[in-house]
Amino acid sequence: MEQEKVSLSAVVKAKGLTKAFRDCLAVDAIDFSVFKEECFGFLGPNGAGKTTTVRMVSCFIEPSSGYLEVLGREAQKEPRLIKARIGVCQQENNLDPDLTVEDNLRVFARYFDIVGKDAKARCEELLHFVGLYQKRKSAIDELSGGMKRRLMIARSLVNSPDLLILDEPTTGLDPQARHQVWESVMRLKKEGTTVVLTTHYMDEAAHLCDRIVIMDKGKIIVSGSPKELIRQAVTSHVIEIYSGSPGIEGYLKDKGLAYEKTLTHFFVYSQHGPQAFEEISSKFGHGISTLRMANLEDVFLKLTGRELRE
Ligand SMILES: Nc1ncnc2c1ncn2[C@@H]1O[C@H](COP(=O)(O)OP(=O)(O)O)[C@@H](O)[C@H]1O
Ligand SMILES: [Mg+2]
Repeated sequence: MEQEKVSLSAVVKAKGLTKAFRDCLAVDAIDFSVFKEECFGFLGPNGAGKTTTVRMVSCFIEPSSGYLEVLGREAQKEPRLIKARIGVCQQENNLDPDLTVEDNLRVFARYFDIVGKDAKARCEELLHFVGLYQKRKSAIDELSGGMKRRLMIARSLVNSPDLLILDEPTTGLDPQARHQVWESVMRLKKEGTTVVLTTHYMDEAAHLCDRIVIMDKGKIIVSGSPKELIRQAVTSHVIEIYSGSPGIEGYLKDKGLAYEKTLTHFFVYSQHGPQAFEEISSKFGHGISTLRMANLEDVFLKLTGRELRE
């Protein structure tokens, strides 16, 4: 019974979902479900397979193998019906530079057979929603990066989708613009839209997502709510110590404290963070270390490593 309830409320179901390109296994047999009205995030470094995964869910590309169901329909069998009921905001800006802000929406509405008065009303509503009504007559190249992104989001909402897919919605935006995009997503979520997003920003995932998966090299390496993941993967506190002070590493070793070493810092993971912090501060001085709560970035770095990706 419980099983049935869960499967009925799954908006996306993937089992063994795989995508192989000629020379690369971009998505390697992943399983996940996205439930109604949640915000579900795919995190991972560049090349992890996030875009490929959401492009399969968006029915832009076909899986090589595995099972994929979106809004109760099999992606390989009924892609057109699925596409009619989802909204997709792709990673790259693909607004039409020859059209005004409002005409970008109008043209899109026409794809969904929304025309005339209905189209006008829907487009105005969306322009208000993303705060671009004043800019409706502007050309695309007059918009800032954040405005373009918001227009992309508005466009993806033209058909009032049951599922909204956002591929790196805030990459490259300044902090103000990021927060405006976050606000739009939060409002949509509040109104009951199911959202799937990809990001490599940990704070974004922690802020917006009810559940996340972390992907690396085409596989899901961990899944859960941001809080659960932090609890499972790292300790509650992290001490960051500037590594210039002599004797620190020897001290950490002597005390048996788990730590990670970077060029400039030691990151100490201890179940007794505050106590260890006090001891370090009294021994080495107060200015060289900080105590903070563990966050999703710690989980991410622990699981995917610190080396740079392409
Ligand atoms: N159309 C394609 N043809 C060949 N390889 C691709 C194609 N699209 C993506 N890839 C490869 O698949 C892997 C995953 O890419 P992608 O899904 O874009 O990752 P992410 O979005 O997590 O950065 C990368 O190694 C990428 O080079
Ligand atoms: Mg991507």
